[in-house]
Amino acid sequence: MAIQWFPGHMHLTRKAIQERIKEIDVVIELLDARLPGSSANPMLAEITAAKPALKVLNKQDLADPVRTALWLEHFNALPGTQALGLDASMSTPAKALVQACHALAPKRGGMAKPMRVLICGIPNVGKSTLINTLKGKRAAKTGDEAGITKLEQRITIADDFYLYDTPGVLWPRIIVAKSGYNLAASGAIGRNAFDEQEVALELLDYLRQNYAPALEARYNFTGAAEMTDEQILDVVARKRGGLMAGGKLNLQKAAEVAIYDFRAGSLGRITLETPPEYAEWLAHGQKL
Ligand code: G4P
Repeated sequence: MAIQWFPGHMHLTRKAIQERIKEIDVVIELLDARLPGSSANPMLAEITAAKPALKVLNKQDLADPVRTALWLEHFNALPGTQALGLDASMSTPAKALVQACHALAPKRGGMAKPMRVLICGIPNVGKSTLINTLKGKRAAKTGDEAGITKLEQRITIADDFYLYDTPGVLWPRIIVAKSGYNLAASGAIGRNAFDEQEVALELLDYLRQNYAPALEARYNFTGAAEMTDEQILDVVARKRGGLMAGGKLNLQKAAEVAIYDFRAGSLGRITLETPPEYAEWLAHGQKL
């Protein structure tokens, strides 16, 4: 059964972004580099369409670098859009972000016309981590200035470069079934909103078709590409402590192990969708 998750309605966030967007020069959307299509929120695209967009593929350390390059190429080909990859290990991400924003809005900059940037992303994509890195020693300045409320935290990256955090929470919006599974596998969806075995089977099915050697290496078996997802889940159970008394397999434990291994990067650097695949899901996938 497809995952349907409605954690909260987006009305207030939509309104708050619409208010703020008038004074914004560039919108940064943080995406999960392992699922750049599914981790985008289509509502954001709708309400920020007229603004230059910087797509940041975050957590690139966990993603397949070949596929990250494909996604960057895909986004860079869109009008008014630039893209770059980042991860939390980069101690100075500000330089790349500032450069990309100046390329997108070349008329902004200098004290008279400071660059005003809005940073958005669904929960768990790494926004707080990135903001904290960007704040660095300037953290004390955040929100201290008159007229700047907590809702619209302003982070001063340079004297003429202001970053505003999203007012409100940008929950993921699942529009096709495959996206729901990928969001659940990545950890972006509440635990109680999905069935781990179902998500693990979808994950293993994708991995078996696209990353068979990684699966075989992690769980020490062969022939992944020719097996079914159920058979591979059985292997995970046998190899990773999911064997119960009487030889019964604990498939719930196996599912949790597979999902955890993917999230932690223990299966290697993996990306669960390519630009053509994602386009195909949108065109022909099970709509929600
Ligand atoms: P959010 O504000 O968008 O909700 O995300 P947050 O920064 O809280 O990050 C969510 C999780 O992702 C955190 O892990 C964080 O450490 C991890 N993370 C953020 N950026 C990166 C990255 O570039 N690469 C990798 N590999 N991980 C990243 P956590 O498990 O919730 O906490 P912890 O492991 O840091 O304790």
